[in-house]
Parts: sequence; structure tokens; C-alpha cells
Amino acid sequence: MRTLNAFYFSGTGNTRYVTRCLCRKLSVKFRTSVYDITDKADFSALLKEADIILLAYPIYGSAPPIPMCQFVRRYGADIACKEVIIVVTQYLFSGDGASSLGRTVEKLGVM
Ligand SMILES: Cc1cc2nc3c(=O)[nH]c(=O)nc-3n(C[C@H](O)[C@H](O)[C@H](O)COP(=O)(O)O)c2cc1C
Repeated sequence: MRTLNAFYFSGTGNTRYVTRCLCRKLSVKFRTSVYDITDKADFSALLKEADIILLAYPIYGSAPPIPMCQFVRRYGADIACKEVIIVVTQYLFSGDGASSLGRTVEKLGVM
């Protein structure tokens, strides 16, 4: 069974809820674990062990939140060459925020 590790940022809880629900459903096919990126741990080992990385975040001001941008920049080398799924929650208008992190990940050579 392949390992899917999910890393989320959630200011008010919506993205945490969605990520947990999604991973519970995906656990039929994958060994899933869910991590809050603000837990301050070193996530390198958890990123390296994953076959698939899921990044989840809300849209704030039509953009990805700063903690998720920092996470991708910090762990770019560990994310590179992995299969990546990006999950975004929003209210009404994502602006460019739903795809901009995808492009950042793409620039790292991930996809
Ligand atoms: C500071 C702030 C800015 C937001 N900006 C947007 C936005 O530009 N577009 C949008 O559709 N929703 C926006 N929202 C709504 C959130 O993206 C949405 O409620 C999301 O599900 C919140 O996720 P969270 O509970 O994981 O933080 C914003 C919410 C907050 C608190």
C-alpha cells in the first residue's frame, strides 16, 4: 500500500476538516497520515517517506496563505520528484490562489 501524507494549513478549521475527511476516504487505498504544518516539527522525514504528498490550504486574499508558501519553499527539495495533490478551500473567489501554489510546486520540478 502506498503512503499518502497530507500537510495542511487551516486558520479557522475548514481545511483541517476537509483534509481529514478526504484522507479518511483515501485510507481505503493508501496508508494516510495528516499533519498540521504549524506544529513546528521538522517535516523532512515525513515528506521523504511519502509516495504521494497532499498539500491543503485556504484562499486568503486570493492567494495561498503565507505559512503554506513558506512550507513549500522550505521543503522544496523534499517535495521535488513526488506525486503532489493540492486541495484548496475558499468562499467565493479564488483569484489566482488555487493555482499559484501549483505553479510554485511545478517550478520545483515536482510535476
Ligand atoms: C483573511 C481571510 C481572507 C480570505 N480571502 C478569501 C478570498 O480571497 N477568496 C475566497 O473565496 N475566500 C476567502 N476567504 C474564505 C476562506 O478561504 C474560506 O473560508 C476557507 O475555507 C477558510 O479555511 P480555513 O478554515 O481552513 O482557514 C478568506 C478568509 C479569511 C479568514
